[in-house]
Amino acid sequence: MKNVRHLFDISDLTTKEIDELLRVAEDIMMNRGKYAGACARKKLATLFFEPSTRTRLSFEAAMQELGGSTLGFASAESSSTSKGESVMDTIRTVSSYADIIVMRHPKEGAALAASQRSVVPVINAGDGGHCHPTQTLADLLTIKHYHGRVKKLRIGICGDLKFGRTVHSLINALTRYENNSFVMISPPELGIPNYVQHEILSPRKAEWTTCQNIEDCIGSLDVLYMTRIQKERFQSVEDYERLKNCYVLDAAKMMAAKKKMCVLHPLPRVKEISVDMDDDPRAQYFTQVTNGKFMRMALILKFLEDADKGYCPPPAREVIKNKFICENPACVTNAESDLVQLCTLRDATHNVYRCEYCESKVKKPF
Ligand code: NCD
Repeated sequence: MKNVRHLFDISDLTTKEIDELLRVAEDIMMNRGKYAGACARKKLATLFFEPSTRTRLSFEAAMQELGGSTLGFASAESSSTSKGESVMDTIRTVSSYADIIVMRHPKEGAALAASQRSVVPVINAGDGGHCHPTQTLADLLTIKHYHGRVKKLRIGICGDLKFGRTVHSLINALTRYENNSFVMISPPELGIPNYVQHEILSPRKAEWTTCQNIEDCIGSLDVLYMTRIQKERFQSVEDYERLKNCYVLDAAKMMAAKKKMCVLHPLPRVKEISVDMDDDPRAQYFTQVTNGKFMRMALILKFLEDADKGYCPPPAREVIKNKFICENPACVTNAESDLVQLCTLRDATHNVYRCEYCESKVKKPF
């Protein structure tokens, strides 16, 4: 397969590239006409095997504003997946129609799997409970505009930190900027995954604490990032029912927050943010939606440009093939039987190997 650059997670972008994407998105916002024909005759495919409103439509709106066109499907049922076709075959097909592919799938690592059959860039628009880098770019732009910076902030992240993919990518991005600190607000069973702690927070020496109630920490925060409890990822309906309304942010709780705190949410919200605070100027979740389109315009431009130049950064780690079996049932390798198992050594001192698709720990390769 041709070596093209893909976006699986925010770690595929350097901090310099993230900053440049933010700058380009701001330039697009201010000079819309300048970019109107930038992607003329280019096609963007949106392959959504899972529901979406904002991510899919913002990518489509973004491409249309750049003068390009779009094709794709909005559910697995309306594609040949429903006839039993593999993601790999679907991608191979679509990559001969489109110049860039945006894909969302319920399995972790699905975008990485898809990229192995694609001759055009694949952008991950959410792979199960794993990551969601393009949402993070929208979040960063919103924080930057609101606070004038993405560093030196105390960030509370509240809700489902285990399955909430936007949270994992957000932590990965914000820990790169100096002096950010974090309060992880969740019930103990919905805390951040092991790999986020050991691969991101610890090596970057990020300052973080946990907390179970919004009231206990809201007064210290500059950003409060709310998330939905991810119903579709729960194994047990009872567990979901028990946890679903564990956090509700409302106007009364906001009284204790700083005047300059902002509230973000990737949306959709269920009940975790009360509509009685939508008019509070600190509520920035609909601004995030607007920013998402501009960030995605910048991203499409960059990945098409890199593909045209033939630019593809070298892999960050040496990959070991087919020498272990990933046991995570949510991993794409457990759904697509023809996939090559891939893992990397992440921590030589403790002998930690992780699956490249879903980042869960795997036994030492044989
Ligand atoms: C999120 C997602 O799909 O992960 N939504 C989004 O893309 N803006 C959040 C969610 O579904 O809870």
